[in-house]
Amino acid sequence: MRTRHVGRTGWDLGEIGFGGWALGADWGPVSDKDAADTLNAALDSGVNFIDTADVYGDGRSEQRIARTLKARGGDKPIVATKAGRRLNPHNAADYTKANLTAFVERSLRNLETDALDLVQLHCPPTQVYYQPETFEVLDGLVIAGKIKRYGVSVEKVEEGIKALEYPALASVQIIFNIFRQRPADLFFRLAKERGVAVIVRVPLSSGMLSGKLTRESQFEPSDHRNYNRHGEAFDVGETFSGVPYETGLAAVEKLRPLVPASASMAQLALRWILMHDAVSVIIPGGKSVAQARDNAAAAGLPPLSAELMARVQAIYESRIKPYVHQRW
Ligand SMILES: NC(=O)c1ccc[n+]([C@@H]2O[C@H](COP(=O)([O-])OP(=O)(O)OC[C@H]3O[C@@H](n4cnc5c(N)ncnc54)[C@H](OP(=O)(O)O)[C@@H]3O)[C@@H](O)[C@H]2O)c1
Repeated sequence: MRTRHVGRTGWDLGEIGFGGWALGADWGPVSDKDAADTLNAALDSGVNFIDTADVYGDGRSEQRIARTLKARGGDKPIVATKAGRRLNPHNAADYTKANLTAFVERSLRNLETDALDLVQLHCPPTQVYYQPETFEVLDGLVIAGKIKRYGVSVEKVEEGIKALEYPALASVQIIFNIFRQRPADLFFRLAKERGVAVIVRVPLSSGMLSGKLTRESQFEPSDHRNYNRHGEAFDVGETFSGVPYETGLAAVEKLRPLVPASASMAQLALRWILMHDAVSVIIPGGKSVAQARDNAAAAGLPPLSAELMARVQAIYESRIKPYVHQRW
C-alpha cells in the first residue's frame, strides 16, 4: 500500500487505515472471531494504522485489537485510541489530570502495552480547546512515558484549526467525505503546513456511500444508525454525516453512474478522499473480511479524473451542501 509521510511525527501511514468502532459491537453484534478476522484482513492488506476508543464497546474494541495483535505477532501497526467520553456528564472542566490519567491507565491495560501510540481527545466540548492546562496534562503524560503522542478528534472545522496551535499536537481526526467537504478549504492547508496528521473518519458516511443502503434498510437496536438518526445520543453529524437519510439515498443514485467499472462505490468514495493530499490516513470502519479488503484496495485505484471530481462536486453543491456545510 502507498504511504503518506507525516512531518511532525515521522510516521509513514498506509493511505487506508482501519476504524475499530464496530469491533466493540456498538454497531450490532460482532463476534470475537469476526473482529479478529476483519482486523487481520485489514493488516494483511497493508493497513498500518488502527483507530479505536476507550468507550467502543466499553473497552471491548481495545481488548480485541490487543488480543489480535498479540496472536499475530510481527510488526505492530500504530494503534490510536481516544479518551474523554467516559466522563458523564461530559464537561470541559472534568478534562483534568486525575481523569485523563485514569482513562490512559485503563487503555494501557486494555491494549496490553506500556505506552499508547496516540491518544486523541474524543470530541471534547469546544471549551477544552481553550484550556491549555488540558494539553499540559497530555504533555505530562508524554513525559511520563504513558503516551507517545496526542491528538484530537473534532466535530467542527474551527476546533481543528484551534487545536493546530498546540505545538506538540500530532493529529486531528475529522469527518471528511463526499458529503462533508468543508475541511478541504482552510483546515487542510493549515494542517499540511504544520505537518500535523489528518485522520479522516466516517469516510463512507456510515455506510451510505457504499451504495448498498435503501429505504428499507434496517439497523440493529444497538447500531447508532438506528438510535442516533436525529442526534439523540451524540452529535448527529456522526451518523450519515448529518445528511437526512432520504437526501443521502437520492444523492447516492446520482453518484452511482460515476463509479469506475473496476471499482465499488465504497472504493470511489475512499479514492475521492485520497485526492486531497493533506489527508494522512482514512479509517473506514468494517465488520467483515470482504469490507476490510475492499476498502484497503481503494488505495490502489488510479487518480480520479478532473471531470469526475467536478461531477462529484456538482452533486455535493446541489444536493448536500445546504444540509451540512455551515453546521460543521
Ligand atoms: N468521534 C469520533 O472520534 C469518531 C466518530 C465516528 C467514527 N470514528 C472512527 O472512524 C471510523 C470510521 O467511521 P464509521 O465507522 O463511523 O463510518 P464509515 O467508515 O463511514 O462506515 C462504516 C460502515 O460502512 C459499512 N462498510 C464499510 N466498508 C464497506 C464496504 N467496503 N462496502 C460496503 N459497506 C461497507 C459497514 O457497515 P455495515 O456493513 O453494517 O453496513 C461499516 O461499519 C470508526 O470505526 C471509528 O474508528 C470516530
